[in-house]
Amino acid sequence: MKVLVIGSGGREHALVWKIAQSAHASKVWCAPGNAGTALETVAKTGIQVENVPLGAEDLKGLLNFAGEHKPDLTVVGSENPLALGIVDRFQNAGFRIWGPTQKAAQFESSKVFSQEFMKRHGIPTAKAASFSEPEAARAFARELEGRCIVKADGLAFGKGVLICQSVEDADRSIKSILKEKAFGEAGNRILIQELLVGREVSLHAICDGKSYQLFPTSQDHKRALDGDQGLNTGGMGAYFPTPFFVAEALEQARQEILDPWLAGCQAEGIDYHGILYPGLMLTEDGPKVLEFNSRFGDPETQVYLRCLKSDLIEILEASIDGTLNAVNLEWSEGVSVCVVIASGGYPGSYTKGQRITGLETADDLSGVKVFHAGTRSSKPDIITSGGRVLGVTADGNSLEAALKTAYTATEMIQFEGAFYRTDIGAKAISWRADPHSISRGSLNWSTNKA
Ligand SMILES: Nc1ncnc2c1ncn2[C@@H]1O[C@H](COP(=O)(O)OP(=O)(O)OP(=O)(O)O)[C@@H](O)[C@H]1O
Ligand SMILES: [Mg+2]
Repeated sequence: MKVLVIGSGGREHALVWKIAQSAHASKVWCAPGNAGTALETVAKTGIQVENVPLGAEDLKGLLNFAGEHKPDLTVVGSENPLALGIVDRFQNAGFRIWGPTQKAAQFESSKVFSQEFMKRHGIPTAKAASFSEPEAARAFARELEGRCIVKADGLAFGKGVLICQSVEDADRSIKSILKEKAFGEAGNRILIQELLVGREVSLHAICDGKSYQLFPTSQDHKRALDGDQGLNTGGMGAYFPTPFFVAEALEQARQEILDPWLAGCQAEGIDYHGILYPGLMLTEDGPKVLEFNSRFGDPETQVYLRCLKSDLIEILEASIDGTLNAVNLEWSEGVSVCVVIASGGYPGSYTKGQRITGLETADDLSGVKVFHAGTRSSKPDIITSGGRVLGVTADGNSLEAALKTAYTATEMIQFEGAFYRTDIGAKAISWRADPHSISRGSLNWSTNKA
């Protein structure tokens, strides 16, 4: 089977890596891919993965490519092409493609859509309202005494969310999004949510229109610096599985969130095929949904796919065909950790084109896989081309062992300005030592299995 993967980040490298190992893959392309995707080899045929110089949002170019090369399956990694309707376009042209349609992808591409959907279907979420006029928005922010989150409705590269602690903060945020258009068209409407307090977890469920399968939880690290300091980023590291939010908590999330979500989709004619990735806050009143994403998390994908034993193509095919209940997701017993190495200055401005050294030595360590994100080949070198550059992923029998390997490998890799967090997984370790050490709300949502 010939497979086309769309995207260029660490998530897409992980997807390419896993797909290349499938018993069903004969040829793999990645558009546009990165230096790492082009180094992978398809296990069954020994053919190297080929990067295609087409952007993930170049729908016309991608359709032409599909017309010419006839992939048997196209896999969409990132949210922007989904929001642009790539799935609908490919399906209309007769190509098999994995991911939600434009209508279904609205769960991520419109926060107002999601909020209203949750209200209609009784899914626990923050108190919220949506606005296109600043005056009414300001009045609502006052009702919340300024302790609120102001969110641009549309996609804003993970940056369209402003956290407010006072009425002044809220007024400034509302003005910046609605009037000054800080996030462009994405901010034509805003959603204001009450500020929830608790511990954050995210879920991943693969869906086939009729059913879903929930993954065990992994944990991302959103802030740029150790101790959850610094600015929000796309994600600075992850580990799998988490010791908290297991068993009963997952069952409760099924009953209170995923089941009503699926029933709501069916009632409204939303045929959801792909990943649903809800972000939750575990509050004292139970879990509440902050947002939905309509694709795999990055860097969660890197740790999930290292631990997934099942053939990924079989799972994606079942998700397209509505046959997920015949598929068993098998996970390895081990732990996987991903440490993201970023360019100095990220998530603000940073330089590109820095030569990376130590990649091969790190990759050769037992249990290590270095997934590329912002990298480019500049023969004979590999150079940086983005904010998040690499996801150094390591497996182990325990979290401690996986962390040790991951950081040993991370230290081998160098480029000018490189930085990474040194506390990936630290919360899991302190939680195991003392479950009370983690913020309020967590205990109702965990078992002491670990
Ligand atoms: N109601 C809320 N109460 C408290 N914190 C919140 C709330 N909503 C969002 N946040 C914080 O802001 C972050 C980003 O919010 P959200 O996930 O809605 O935005 P996003 O831009 O879609 O992010 P992502 O890139 O994770 O998809 C959350 O991870 C959480 O830390
Ligand atoms: Mg989101």
